[in-house]
Amino acid sequence: MHSHELAALIRQVPDYPQPGVVFRDITPLLASPAGFASAVDALVELSPREVDVVVGIEARGFLFGAPVALALGAGFVPIRKPAKLPREVVSVTYELEYGTETLALHTDAFASGARVLIVDDVLATGGTVVAAAELVARLGGELVGVTLLSELAYLGGRGRLVDAGISPVTSLLTFDAA
Ligand code: PRP
Ligand code: MG
Repeated sequence: MHSHELAALIRQVPDYPQPGVVFRDITPLLASPAGFASAVDALVELSPREVDVVVGIEARGFLFGAPVALALGAGFVPIRKPAKLPREVVSVTYELEYGTETLALHTDAFASGARVLIVDDVLATGGTVVAAAELVARLGGELVGVTLLSELAYLGGRGRLVDAGISPVTSLLTFDAA
């Protein structure tokens, strides 16, 4: 499936969850057998080959991270929102456009030196990926890449990742305007 067909399966919802924000709804893509399969295949193609674990970020990062992990022959590790992981965690709290968010990772999720790929559905301001990379670094993981279904170029997330020294960053679909 061509990327413009995949992009057409991501629906824009104006003024959600708040006025002025254009939400990108991936549920039509997930509900399309051809679209979902094609998106996962393309994400695998964009990803490095030598990966020990794929880290997916709750919740939408799980949807793409898990099938990418299976295809790469890698393990899957969830980064979760607060009070979801039952054992010892490292956690990081970061600023969102409005308010704050906390993400957590089991301290024994992978061995120090593991080659880690971060997968998520969309890069917006970049705060979520920066926080995830911080957690990976705290466990001594070697970040070998970040693979994203989409990128909202007008929000400048990529520059924020560059500033944080995070690379390579690859996105399947780029949206240049809201
Ligand atoms: C959304 C999206 C990304 C993140 C991107 O997650 O799934 O993870 O925001 O935003 P950023 O680049 O500005 O940090 P969100 O936590 O809103 O919801 P989810 O649980 O549905 O994934
Ligand atoms: Mg998310």
